[in-house]
Amino acid sequence: MPFKSPRGTKDVLPPETSLWQVVEGQARRIFSLYAFQEVRTPVIEETGLFLRSLGDLSDIVQKQMFQIKKDTDAFVLRPEATAAIIRAYIEHGIYHSSQITKWFYLGPMFRAERPQKGRLRQFHHIGCEVIGSYSPCLDAEAVRLAVHILKDTGIDGFEVVVNTLGCAHDKKRLTIHLKELLLPKKQLFCEDCQARMERNVFRVLDCKNTQCREHVAALSIGTGHVCQECLRHFEAVKASLGRFGVSFKVDPLLVRGLDYYTRTVFEIKHPGLGAQDALGAGGRYDNLVAELGGPEKGAVGFALGMERLLLAKGVTDTGVSCAGPLDCYAIGLGDAARGKCLELLNSLRLAGVAADMDYGDGSLKSGLRKADGMKAKVCVIVGDNELAKGVAVLKDMRKGTQEEVSLDCLTDRVKGLIC
Ligand code: HAM
Repeated sequence: MPFKSPRGTKDVLPPETSLWQVVEGQARRIFSLYAFQEVRTPVIEETGLFLRSLGDLSDIVQKQMFQIKKDTDAFVLRPEATAAIIRAYIEHGIYHSSQITKWFYLGPMFRAERPQKGRLRQFHHIGCEVIGSYSPCLDAEAVRLAVHILKDTGIDGFEVVVNTLGCAHDKKRLTIHLKELLLPKKQLFCEDCQARMERNVFRVLDCKNTQCREHVAALSIGTGHVCQECLRHFEAVKASLGRFGVSFKVDPLLVRGLDYYTRTVFEIKHPGLGAQDALGAGGRYDNLVAELGGPEKGAVGFALGMERLLLAKGVTDTGVSCAGPLDCYAIGLGDAARGKCLELLNSLRLAGVAADMDYGDGSLKSGLRKADGMKAKVCVIVGDNELAKGVAVLKDMRKGTQEEVSLDCLTDRVKGLIC
């Protein structure tokens, strides 16, 4: 049996890779417009980092971590980046030199979930974190930035949903309130939700089971559990979203499944994506830096799922933009001419010309067919006659014209033709 990529992982092959590069390039450009800088952290982290930050009752910690044991050390493939970014922020003492830190990241995340459309075991985040401020303007800026990236990527028809969880005290009150509402109706919910009501009641609100969703939709949670200060913060976030021109909906049932969130949470949903409809999500997490051993620092961030973003863009694995044209294709007729072509390729590439050659020993006709297939702008043809004269035939593939050029000035002439 031939090997296959592991279940829930995906090879990204050309020409789809070109599309990834375009989206990543656009994201990088937009992050820099908002004064963010890129960070790259390892894909493995100590297991304890996620136990501490995501909550030991979160779905990720309970079921989805890929564990790696090496001697007495325990690592995991990172299931998300926020905790790792904060670990790096504290480890390198960034708070000593920077008031507000704005970092972004692109890269693979790993969760041992049951694969389905839009849900993979290795997927990719385009994300960012702002550390060092409690300002509600930054919550709004994070949402604005996520929307900016999506729109520039050509995605429309999504909905921004926001909510406030309140501070740590408010969240405790919300937990009690939800239990009061849900436990009397426990039998009406699926088995998973019945367990969640005891372990992590917030997760009941995300259940995809139709019956559970109906019961959840009928709940009236209100904002009674949120303190005045957190309510004021939320009002300011909404006002700033208005100033940024972002349309949004408030959903009191949006709670997010990771323990670290406080105050603002948000999700960006696309109705075309089916069950896995979140294009991205994020929120504020004002206690995480201190919980991981750093100073008291407010923070907010988000992550977009690259694969879901491409799904929403309506791109399937095939039929995406084709590879760009090649500058120059060399055809050597005979061993000696092919040897000379290697030298020519070397000079062309060093001069910044994208070049390839026919390594086979086929005819001129088959060489020209290959050049056409690669959309070469010019072809360099060398045979025994040309070798003896110290020249090459240069064919302009777009105009159909050809000329004889001395090998000494070939690179310059090719550069002149391709521009
Ligand atoms: P998250 O909601 O777990 O948040 O993931 C963010 C996005 O990643 C989701 O909205 C979805 O688009 C994508 N995603 C998640 N799991 C999968 C999967 N199994 N397959 C494909 N795509 C997936 C976080 O990870 C937080 N760290 C976001 C954040 C940053 N909050 C504050 N800062």
